[in-house]
Amino acid sequence: MWCMIVLSAIAFQSLPIVSINETCWPTANNLTCVLNDLLLGYNKYQRPNYTGDPIRVEVYLMIISLGPIFELDMSFTMNLFFRQVWTDQRLTLPNQVSNVAVSTKLLSAIWKPDTFFINSHSAYLHTTPTFNHLLRILENGRLLYSSRLTIKASCSNFLKRFPLDVQICPLVLSSYAYGTKDIIYDWKLNANNGVEFERLKLSQFDLFDHKISRREVQLNDRNHSVLQLDLFMRRKAGYYILQGYIPAGLLVILSWISFWIDSEATADRVYISVTCVLSLTTLTMDIRSYIPAVPYFTAIDYFFVMCYLFLFASLIQFTAVHRYLGYRQSMKSEENLNEQRKSPVLEKAMETNVILLRNEESHSTYFPRRSTFSVIVQGLHLIRRKASLHKLDEHARIGFPLLFILCNGIYWFILVVYTA
Ligand SMILES: *[C@@H]1O[C@H](CO)[C@@H](O)[C@H](O)[C@H]1NC(C)=O
Ligand SMILES: *[C@@H]1O[C@H](CO)[C@@H](O)[C@H](O)[C@H]1NC(C)=O
Ligand SMILES: *[C@@H]1O[C@H](CO)[C@@H](O)[C@H](O)[C@H]1NC(C)=O
Ligand SMILES: *[C@@H]1O[C@H](CO)[C@@H](O)[C@H](O)[C@H]1NC(C)=O
Repeated sequence: MWCMIVLSAIAFQSLPIVSINETCWPTANNLTCVLNDLLLGYNKYQRPNYTGDPIRVEVYLMIISLGPIFELDMSFTMNLFFRQVWTDQRLTLPNQVSNVAVSTKLLSAIWKPDTFFINSHSAYLHTTPTFNHLLRILENGRLLYSSRLTIKASCSNFLKRFPLDVQICPLVLSSYAYGTKDIIYDWKLNANNGVEFERLKLSQFDLFDHKISRREVQLNDRNHSVLQLDLFMRRKAGYYILQGYIPAGLLVILSWISFWIDSEATADRVYISVTCVLSLTTLTMDIRSYIPAVPYFTAIDYFFVMCYLFLFASLIQFTAVHRYLGYRQSMKSEENLNEQRKSPVLEKAMETNVILLRNEESHSTYFPRRSTFSVIVQGLHLIRRKASLHKLDEHARIGFPLLFILCNGIYWFILVVYTA
């Protein structure tokens, strides 16, 4: 308690360090004298071993939470314990005292590394209920400085394989002012390989690997020691399969219903196809709102394009059927005009010919007064017409699903096997 009071007095009022005799009054704690002794004549403006070798700052992290990952501004957020260990011989404790947790007020009285995160958008130290950092003086002047940070770092997403993509998000740190002549960073590898993860659960991604590395980078006029942590994350595609692939595929299948609908039901068939196209457009826009406006096609875009092509193909198939039908009809009506101008009953029959064809027994009752010959001629026309139309739709009924399965096979093969 006294220790803290005295230390904070030292730290805050930045008094000239008083002599041991003055602070070591009888009631004072033993440690007070020790720390005051250490800080006597301490120059916090110079790094430890100022004239000697660069000091080694060892870093290790514990990542508490990760995510969310924002594709739109290409960033990800992480919450971590950031720990740095370095040696300051000036703060070597006497033998009988070791591993002292001291108030972080002491931090402002000593030198500490000016580490910063090169690729961070923003980072902050948690301050509730107090500043979330600690300082420990270990044996032989080793210091442990740990803080709890939330960092929003940039992560340049590469979305060619979206939504089956793997994102590599780095965290890069270095000293802001000191080059390799003064500070060398390294990962603290003995206990936990530099990075620990605390039971991470990400909603959109699976963290399946991480890699740590160190290198030198020239910033401004000097080389800086840089540490990098790469997080390898695989996107959980489930959401996009449920919300994108399956509805889009079902829309294509839905559009095939029109092949079973009577070719004269123009409105119904066009309505189905157009509705499918519009629904797919909505779906595409919905999925697209999760992706930044990248100037290339992502994997799911190729699928949507494929679905559009199938929907358009079924519309075109219908147009072909309709056109052919119209052609036959106009031919027939010319024939009818020439041959059966006198028979309004037959004209009416022409319009409902398909119904007639379904029910061939009705011929005799429907044309009670017509000559047998004209009924046969008419019947042949209708049968020919029905047969040809039937064929176009029948081909489509088999051809479209087969082609769709084939395209899907190729698509998923390329996506899952070939470019994996
Ligand atoms: C501290 O006090 C002792 C005697 O109690 C004295 O011998 C010593 O010189 C003093 N040291 C300082 C730095 O004043
Ligand atoms: C501090 O306490 C230890 C024993 O706990 C003793 O050996 C040492 O001399 C004390 N130091 C001072 C400066 O009183
Ligand atoms: C300080 O630098 C000297 C060389 O100049 C080196 O021998 C010594 O080990 C260094 N001390 C520490 C604590 O790194
Ligand atoms: C930085 O390091 C590279 C090689 O590691 C060297 O070529 C370059 O001159 C260094 N730059 C400075 C400013 O020391």
